Amino acid sequence: MAQDLTLLRYRPAVPSDAEEVASVTRAANAEYRGRYDVSALFDPSAQDLADLRRGGGQVAETAGVLVGAVRYVRGADGSASLRRLAVAPACRRRGVGGGLVREAERMLIEVRVGRVTLATVAEVRDLDAFYQDLGYRPTGTEWVARRGFTPRYWTKDLEPTRAPSPSEVPG
Ligand SMILES: CC(C)(COP(=O)(O)OP(=O)(O)OC[C@H]1O[C@@H](n2cnc3c(N)ncnc32)[C@H](O)[C@@H]1OP(=O)(O)O)[C@@H](O)C(=O)NCCC(=O)NCCS
Repeated sequence: MAQDLTLLRYRPAVPSDAEEVASVTRAANAEYRGRYDVSALFDPSAQDLADLRRGGGQVAETAGVLVGAVRYVRGADGSASLRRLAVAPACRRRGVGGGLVREAERMLIEVRVGRVTLATVAEVRDLDAFYQDLGYRPTGTEWVARRGFTPRYWTKDLEPTRAPSPSEVPG
């Protein structure tokens, strides 16, 4: 049954969210089980905690229930990688995934990150349209035989938002 999203809100993730983030990540990726060796997606809590401590992330919740999450890890070069975007199956195709990516970008702009990178499983073709619509461009693929899938790499330059100067304010 579709989840009621009337009270949906986004907020920065905190380390104590790790268990719930792990649970939504596991549920979101269940469809890939047995198809690709992405084991970190199925037993993710240690990695969740490490990512949340090292970088941060965003969660989407409705009435106190966590329904989606994305993490980011900042690099030394002013970039950040987005990781493990996940939306609970009952909440799909209602803008939560796109909202999480946009919220993550907004937070990263605030801490002066200029570029975001991420990787998808190229065999999951739906993800191409999803990230292209969000302004990401593919930078290459790499077949990983032992894991049975092809990572596709993506990047996006973030535009710092700035307050208009007084001369630009209409009226
Ligand atoms: C990928 C994922 C996060 C998308 O979350 P979502 O909340 O459903 O995404 P949105 O509603 O914001 O989708 C925005 C647009 O992306 C595209 N899109 C998203 N999922 C799609 C799908 N399964 N098939 C085709 N297009 C899709 C559509 O253009 C959609 O807009 P529309 O619904 O108006 O047509 C979600 O499907 C998920 O958790 N998948 C499993 C985990 C995963 O693959 N994560 C990505 C790791 S890189």
